[in-house]
Amino acid sequence: MYRNLTLAVEDRVSVLTVNRPDVRNALDTETVQEFHRALDEVRQARSTVLIVTGAGDKAFVSGADINAIRRRTRDDALASINSRLMSAIEGHDAVSIAAVNGYALGGGCEVALACDLRIAAANAVFGLPEPTLGIIPGAGGTQRLPRIVGLGRAKEMILTGARWDAARALEAGLVSRVVPLPELMPAARALADQVLALGPLAVKLAKAALNASSQMPLSAGLAFESAAQAITFESDDKMEGTTAFLEKRKPVFRGD
Ligand code: COA
Repeated sequence: MYRNLTLAVEDRVSVLTVNRPDVRNALDTETVQEFHRALDEVRQARSTVLIVTGAGDKAFVSGADINAIRRRTRDDALASINSRLMSAIEGHDAVSIAAVNGYALGGGCEVALACDLRIAAANAVFGLPEPTLGIIPGAGGTQRLPRIVGLGRAKEMILTGARWDAARALEAGLVSRVVPLPELMPAARALADQVLALGPLAVKLAKAALNASSQMPLSAGLAFESAAQAITFESDDKMEGTTAFLEKRKPVFRGD
């Protein structure tokens, strides 16, 4: 069903693995299209969490496929082929976790930046090396990296072509946790379990409000937050969550 990725849709967690290890999981046009299709499948399956990782033990995603980049024109850039994928990840219903198992360069780093949560294996390497190719990070790198690690650190990475190892990424707040490679997927699943324990409607609305925080002025963001809270206040999940607390039991949320 997919040529360049695998998608495992389990109970409430889906795992998407970019599967082109021979080219370090580079994103060519077909892979980007398949990624969009997989995101639709995850939405239809109503997964609460999506874990994104790369096949093999060398790379998460090594970036846009440089062969495809060579062929692309000004119109292709304006069509935001890769950038639209990152926005689709960021805006997806599911909470996304990047499980970074090696090189996350260029578009690979940008996939991780578009995810809601990022954890890394000890062998992870982050970078936005597009200027070494005479181009700029064009799928959100210049916009999402500074919002996550601050403008100074983002300039350091992009304007010097620096590669950050896992320890540096942790120190900069680019990832929230570093684990040995064999423990990466169990750690990602443990993180997913933490998300699954929460009220699903609250998670969805909190994600929307958090995303809004970088897109609107504070007054509009606060109005968005109040409107989102108004929805939770009328929800079954709120009654269940507060009742379960008072009855000293675990809540059973239905996401309504
Ligand atoms: N696009 C297309 N092909 C890529 C690729 C990419 N982004 N990244 C790696 N490959 C290919 C290599 O050309 C090589 O092909 P070959 O076997 O036909 O020679 C193969 O994948 C293995 O890559 P190699 O460089 O030998 O592996 P490595 O483990 O020594 O290094 C990287 C891995 C990721 C550090 C290195 O391949 C690299 O720097 N890739 C480009 C990263 C980049 O600039 N990304 C931004 C693109 S806009």
